[in-house]
Amino acid sequence: MVTLKDLRREIAVIAVLVEEQIPQINSATRCEELRVQLLGRKGKVAQLFKLLGELSPQERPIAGQLLNELKEKVTAALAGRVTVLGSVAERSDFTTEWIDITLPGTYHPYGHFHPLSQVQQKIEEIFLRMGFTVVAGPEIETEYYNFEALNIPVHHPAREEWDSFYIDETHLLRAHTSPVQIRIMEEKKPPLRIICPGRCYRRDNQDATHSPVFHQVEMLWVEKDLSLANLKYIIELFVKEFFGERYQMRFLADFFPFTEPSIQVHIRSPHSTEWLEIMGAGMVDPIVFQKVGYDPEQVTGFAFGLGIERMAMLRYKIDDIRLFFQNDLRFLHQF
Ligand code: PHE
Repeated sequence: MVTLKDLRREIAVIAVLVEEQIPQINSATRCEELRVQLLGRKGKVAQLFKLLGELSPQERPIAGQLLNELKEKVTAALAGRVTVLGSVAERSDFTTEWIDITLPGTYHPYGHFHPLSQVQQKIEEIFLRMGFTVVAGPEIETEYYNFEALNIPVHHPAREEWDSFYIDETHLLRAHTSPVQIRIMEEKKPPLRIICPGRCYRRDNQDATHSPVFHQVEMLWVEKDLSLANLKYIIELFVKEFFGERYQMRFLADFFPFTEPSIQVHIRSPHSTEWLEIMGAGMVDPIVFQKVGYDPEQVTGFAFGLGIERMAMLRYKIDDIRLFFQNDLRFLHQF
C-alpha cells in the first residue's frame, strides 16, 4: 500500500530534480523531452496521480494538492528555461551576425544619357516651354514624303543635296526630318507648333564633320500671319537659351525647295571670329501647303532643320563627329 509519506518522498525527488536539472538544460528540445517524461499522459506525475486511489479519503485531497503544485512547478520551470534559452540564442546572433558600418559601400556606377540625347533633351525643353509639341515620324520614308511633297520633284538637281540610302524603288532612309512636317500637316488642321527630333541618313563619306547617320530637330509653326520676323525671334530666343546671351547670330540667304524665302543661320561665340552654320530655315513654301491641303491664302508658316551633332560639337567644343558614334567610355564619361 502506498502512504502519504511515500508520495511526499516521490514528490520531493521530482522537485529536487526540477530545481537542479532544469537550469542546466541547454536546448528547447531537451525541455520538451523532460516535459513529456514528467507531465505526459504516461509521465511520472501522471503515475503518481494514479496512486491517489490507494490513499485514505482524508489523505487523498492533501496528496492531490501536493501533486497539482508539483505539476505547476514543473510547467513554470520548463517554460522559464525555454524563454531564457530563446533570448540567449538571440544574443548569440548579434555576436555572429554583425555589420561593419565603417566599411566603404558597394560602388554602383550611375548610367547617364549620351551627349547627343542630352543635347536633344535640352532643345526639346526649350521648345516645350514655348508651347511646342514633340512629335516623331518614321525613319523609313517613301520618296513622296522625303522629296515630292517637299517640292523636290524627280530629277530635280536639289535631290543630290540629300544623297540617300534607298531600300527599294520607292523607299529610302529619310535624309532629313522635314518629311515629318508633311505627315503632321496631313493629319492636323492649323494652327500647329511642333518639333521633331530624329535620326537621318545620307550617303556621305565619314570624316570629322560627316556621318552617314546623324540627328536633326525639325521645327514647324503654322498659323495665320506669321512672318520672317517671328521666325527670327524664335531662333534668336533658342540660340540665347542654348548657347547663352553673348552669342551673336546672323541670317544668310539660302535655297530650299520647300521654303521661300530660305535662310541659313550662323552663330559666333564671343571668343571667336568665326561664323558657324547651325541650321537651314525659311517660310513654308505655298506649294507645300497646297500638297497637304492647306490654303496658302489663309495660313503662313516657318520651319527649320537643325543638326543635333552640330549643336553638341559647338556646345562641348568637340572637333570630330565620329566620337559620338564610337561609344568610347572615356569620351562618354565626360558628359
Ligand atoms: N531639311 C533641311 C535639311 O536637312 C533643313 C531645313 C528644314 C531647311 C526646314 C528649311 C526648313 O537640309
